[in-house]
Amino acid sequence: MRKTRIAVLCSGGGTNFQAIVNAQEAGLIPHGEVVLVVADNKDAYVLQRAARYHIESVVVDKREFPDRAEREEVILSVMRGHDIEFIVFAGFMTILSADFVSAYEGRIINIHPALIPSFCGPGYYGLKVHEAVLARGVKVTGATVHYVTEVCDGGPVIAQKAVEVREDDTPETLQKRVMREAEWVILPEAVELVAKKLQGEE
Ligand code: GAR
Repeated sequence: MRKTRIAVLCSGGGTNFQAIVNAQEAGLIPHGEVVLVVADNKDAYVLQRAARYHIESVVVDKREFPDRAEREEVILSVMRGHDIEFIVFAGFMTILSADFVSAYEGRIINIHPALIPSFCGPGYYGLKVHEAVLARGVKVTGATVHYVTEVCDGGPVIAQKAVEVREDDTPETLQKRVMREAEWVILPEAVELVAKKLQGEE
């Protein structure tokens, strides 16, 4: 079977990347294959994970390319150079311009650690999301996979999963539970769903 060529873009630890690779190894992503990891800093632990699975990686470091337009041009040329058809943001802490998004319209997805439209948009990323959830006192949170558009966290929703907030949660314990119960479950499922859909559009 032909596989949609996937790039995963990350900024840090890469546990969501790991979840995608685990699903791939278990045969749960038959319509796609992760062929490239792009990190926006050279110290991102995800680079070690990629090496372990012999998946090619490229660093487009924010410090080396502080100008966003220039950085995006570099990322786009890396994508084109590797014949990438589908881009997955898995903990990628960069907001991209409309120009970048339009070059891969309907072909970029993102995982967000809350139930969009709650606790999303500029400033809501990583642990900050869980801090805001606890400060507001909501009893249910979760994760969302959505298409990326020029509006931060504003694209069409693909999948969501709810997670209980506990009385004794800290931002760290809540983050861990949201990852384990929601993110690592719905992201690999969404990757397969979109990889398959993109083949139907050929
Ligand atoms: C994940 O919780 C992801 O949902 C979040 O960053 C973490 C990355 O962890 N993404 C955002 O906040 C995007 N706005 P990981 O590197 O271990 O996958």
